[in-house]
Amino acid sequence: MKAKRYTISWKSPPNLAIVKYWGKTDGQIPMNASVSFVLDGLHTTTRVNFTPATSAGELAGIWLNGVFDQKLALRTDAYIRSLYPVFPSLAGFRLEVHTANNFPHGAGIASSASGFSAMALCIAEFAAQLNEEILPGFTFLQKASYLARMGSGSAARSVYPGFSVWGETPVWEGANNAFAIEIAGETPHIWRQLNDTILVVHDAPKTVSSSEGHRRMQHHPFVDGRKIQAENNLKRFKSILAEEDLPAFVLLAEEESLTLHALMLSASPGYWLFQPLTLQLLAAIRHFRESTGVPAGFSIDAGANVHFLWFERDREVVLRFLNDALAHICPPSNWLWSSVGSGPVKIE
Ligand code: PMV
Repeated sequence: MKAKRYTISWKSPPNLAIVKYWGKTDGQIPMNASVSFVLDGLHTTTRVNFTPATSAGELAGIWLNGVFDQKLALRTDAYIRSLYPVFPSLAGFRLEVHTANNFPHGAGIASSASGFSAMALCIAEFAAQLNEEILPGFTFLQKASYLARMGSGSAARSVYPGFSVWGETPVWEGANNAFAIEIAGETPHIWRQLNDTILVVHDAPKTVSSSEGHRRMQHHPFVDGRKIQAENNLKRFKSILAEEDLPAFVLLAEEESLTLHALMLSASPGYWLFQPLTLQLLAAIRHFRESTGVPAGFSIDAGANVHFLWFERDREVVLRFLNDALAHICPPSNWLWSSVGSGPVKIE
């Protein structure tokens, strides 16, 4: 009799952190809690074929945008093995992963968050189809968030709609290091009007990976100060959200991204991921806000690309600014339009 083969497919978005996670300890435990929102319109679509393994320790195969990717295969293989303690039956299967992004991979637009969350959703669903009760007491999305975290910390936050928090903090009840929690229920309507126009100035993979960046935080001289700052910023974020304080929101997003890059500059060895064009964009966005009073600002992740954050109510003046000023620094063909998204979707 032919052994049963399972095919499961999910589409999942990247996310953008407003309070950033930077630095971790073993077991994917974050140095500080973080909060982010999922991006609309950008996604990784992943299909996983689960075939009973014919011999122990068979490697998983992974195809990215149709091309077999050896580097990703090694990382995926290590990831799948790291899940065996929580999902023992997984060891009896060979996984063939077909994954595709509709945005640049490895360029600091959180492709690891969308990639690992899509794969984790497939694996959580596979456990459900096998009737194996992994992570008892967790909901389906909490299980997926836990499994996603094991691949990439920020991926834990990509399984929910809207905003979510990952990491232990007294600021949110239930926030913990094992999985992210959804805070959409606390989110007033105005936040659904948040737009993120991503200005891609550099779409090549980054020179220092996030894994290496997290490692350089372990003995970073500013680690204690960063933990205090992140905790204060989470408190600030919570009241900004409730009070619908748009100017304070963009200032916080900017402060957090400048801190992230300052931590990279002051690591040992220090490094930077921004490019001259990144800095030109930041200066132009600041000038726009300061000269018009429009609550718009920037965020940057671990990469050179700029997330231009603005609100729907200011569309007209923002589009004029984009076309009159930013287009001269970064051409419109390099813009990705996004906003607060509604989270992953299962593909039938
Ligand atoms: O999840 P990782 O290991 O790719 O870390 C990325 C962390 C940042 O994107 C820089 C910040 C964040 O909280 O998403």
